[in-house]
Amino acid sequence: MNKYTQLCPIIFGNGSIQLVGEEAKNLGCKKVMLVSDETVSKLAGNTACKKSLFDSGIEVVSFNQVVPDPSDYIVNQGGELAKTEQIDGIVALGGGSVMDVGKAINVLVNNPLPINQYLGNPVYKPGVPLILIPTTAGTGSESTIMGVITDTVHNVKNAVLCPATLGILDPEVTVSMPPSITAYTGMDAFAQAAEAITTKDPNPKSDLLAFEAIKKVTTYLPIAVSNGENMKAREELLLASNFAGIAFNDALVHLGHAISHTVGAAFHKTHGVICALAIPEVLKYSAKVRPDKVQLIGEAMGLSFKGTEGDDEIGEIVAGAIRELIKNIGIPSIKDLGISKDELVTLARKVTEDACFQYVPREPSKEELTGILETIYECY
Ligand SMILES: NC(=O)c1ccc[n+]([C@@H]2O[C@H](COP(=O)([O-])OP(=O)(O)OC[C@H]3O[C@@H](n4cnc5c(N)ncnc54)[C@H](O)[C@@H]3O)[C@@H](O)[C@H]2O)c1
Ligand SMILES: [Fe+2]
Repeated sequence: MNKYTQLCPIIFGNGSIQLVGEEAKNLGCKKVMLVSDETVSKLAGNTACKKSLFDSGIEVVSFNQVVPDPSDYIVNQGGELAKTEQIDGIVALGGGSVMDVGKAINVLVNNPLPINQYLGNPVYKPGVPLILIPTTAGTGSESTIMGVITDTVHNVKNAVLCPATLGILDPEVTVSMPPSITAYTGMDAFAQAAEAITTKDPNPKSDLLAFEAIKKVTTYLPIAVSNGENMKAREELLLASNFAGIAFNDALVHLGHAISHTVGAAFHKTHGVICALAIPEVLKYSAKVRPDKVQLIGEAMGLSFKGTEGDDEIGEIVAGAIRELIKNIGIPSIKDLGISKDELVTLARKVTEDACFQYVPREPSKEELTGILETIYECY
């Protein structure tokens, strides 16, 4: 049996951020909290967003304290402010970190603090209308139910479950991303799509959207990294990110994300970078279980297959093409990140404890998992 979800409407197009005020007003908002981070709060998109809200007669309370891989205490601060200010709507303008904090603050609006009690727990009083506007093209958080928050009590990443009311995708607000952030976030979308295709419980809608997302990222990510002003590339990558988000919201991600969450929590390294480094080895492993699905990913990347390749060969061909792609866009290696092979391999047990691990197409043995971590270190 398959299940797929339709979470929230999306408005897509250059300049669409200017519609935020009208949309918030239509949702009944009179005083919204504008969630962002220090960098994004200084960008033109933030000014456009505020202007649109003001022009629609909506009061704005700014909360710019979000940092990458946000922790529980930041959400609690935002939740306190939302309650004190009695806001009736939330607009989150930023990358996945900001959008996820927006979701988590929304969980707290009508419920007692702290946020930790709602991690992995969908039982809470509903919040207020929530509009998400991504400024990176990677997480697809606007179309997923998860809001990833670092639980500082257990030092792990966990998630609140809170869908958005509306997503606004304006490619123009992603143009300011430097090449490095463009590359990291784009590879997050790629990994999310590739893991959605090879997951334990795939579904046809996820396969379709994930295939398109991989095709778009492979074609347009190198272009956007070398020329950030290329609007066609920015548009296609924002769509790719959204498609991958919708795809993995149902199918779920698995081993690559379990590794990225674990390494991210242990060493505070960028989510998309670890996803990019893990995905070649994760697909090599997945090819032993679902070679057809890994071949599909290769085909989305523009590779052709003779039809006579063995399972391991399919895995190696696709892994090799991904390594080439990530070299081309400047993804650093595990060594460059200052993590030793031993440090990486000792995380194996923690990887198995991550919530995503249960969606691996077939659970790897301890030796297989250690081997995957070693190869992530050695093969790139
Ligand atoms: N909710 C989900 O479904 C989901 C999915 C994948 C990842 N995540 C989570 O999302 C977070 C990562 O999000 P992200 O990769 O979008 O990065 P991010 O939100 O952490 O932002 C990374 C950096 O980019 C900067 N930035 C953002 N937009 C910019 C712009 N337009 N111009 C210049 N700089 C800009 C930010 O200020 C920040 O310094 C992680 O916590 C990850 O676990 C969530
Ligand atoms: Fe991700």
